[in-house]
Amino acid sequence: MISISRPQIGEEEKAAVMKVLESGQLVQGPRVQEFEEKFAAWTETKYAVATSSGTTALHVALLAHGIGEGDEVITTAFSFIASANCILYTNARPVFADIEAQYFMIDPMDIEKRITPKTKAIIPVHLFGQMSDMEPIYAIAQKHNLAIVEDACQSHGAKLNGKSVGAWGTACYSFYPTKNMTTIEGGMITTNDPAIAERARLIRNHGSPKRYLHEMLGFNFRMTDLQAAIGLAQLAKVEGWNDKRKANAAFLTSQLKKVDGITPPAVRPGSEPVFHQYTIRAKNRDRALEQLGQKGIGVGVYYPIPIHMQPLYKKLGYEVSLPVTEQAALEVLSLPVHPALSQAELDEIVKVVASLEL
Ligand SMILES: Cc1ncc(COP(=O)(O)O)c(C=O)c1O
Repeated sequence: MISISRPQIGEEEKAAVMKVLESGQLVQGPRVQEFEEKFAAWTETKYAVATSSGTTALHVALLAHGIGEGDEVITTAFSFIASANCILYTNARPVFADIEAQYFMIDPMDIEKRITPKTKAIIPVHLFGQMSDMEPIYAIAQKHNLAIVEDACQSHGAKLNGKSVGAWGTACYSFYPTKNMTTIEGGMITTNDPAIAERARLIRNHGSPKRYLHEMLGFNFRMTDLQAAIGLAQLAKVEGWNDKRKANAAFLTSQLKKVDGITPPAVRPGSEPVFHQYTIRAKNRDRALEQLGQKGIGVGVYYPIPIHMQPLYKKLGYEVSLPVTEQAALEVLSLPVHPALSQAELDEIVKVVASLEL
């Protein structure tokens, strides 16, 4: 079976973890600080705040922007549930805009239609390692005085018009094992705003600027030094892995673009995606999934049920119709694109996809 993801944990990560264990400084210590500094430098942002997961990074970022009861936050329903649940955690209301059919990202025109006096923020999700259409989204946010929290959980290192993810707002990353780089569990918030960074630091650690002094309600969303040590080792390698993902995606597209019934992923002009996933549309998705599985190709469907159609959101009374999102959820499937694929495995993926009977 050619798996859909293969986390890369090498000798550097193992040695770094042992060093932390022997050091005795285990939580939010020197390795976490070093990881924050190096991650901020890599993403060309001023501040980075490490958290326990991508989900907690999003939660903390929204709280740091003052989002709460009575507010509305616009996001996409074509994402992992955390992109919307983070809004519920703050007692604000997620409002879903539809996506662009070509790129699967939130549609700026549809965002504008859903703005009300209660709207306080937009969460564009850079899904699959692709970039949302940030220039118009930024213009809309400026016009209506809205915060932008970029969900960059799948897009470490992606760029648009030469600018890194996080250049348009506060950005949140996940380091879950399947992501482009991992700390096993872990997250990061980046921002150029010192006040947001300061609030985020307080919120992730019980509102505590120093030991046993608590200025505001916060949480225990801290990162351990074990995670940060793994993250530092991964950070030294992520660009190489991203280059391999890009090369794998370019190869797959060059070979699959003429295959009937398959639409390879489109790339937004000016963007440099990092292909967290290589997501195609397939004419008869269920048949494709069955045949790919039988022939040893690990596939994923991201995401089969859009967030507004999840039982949780139905119970919350969501009845919105998002036709482009709903169609995409019926047609997408993701093929392996991770950096550990060999040329023989890539050739096998192409051979099997080209022979699908749809
Ligand atoms: C788009 C998106 N947002 C948020 C998350 C949440 O990250 P985590 O699993 O680290 O909490 C993920 C990852 O699973 C994700 O893919």
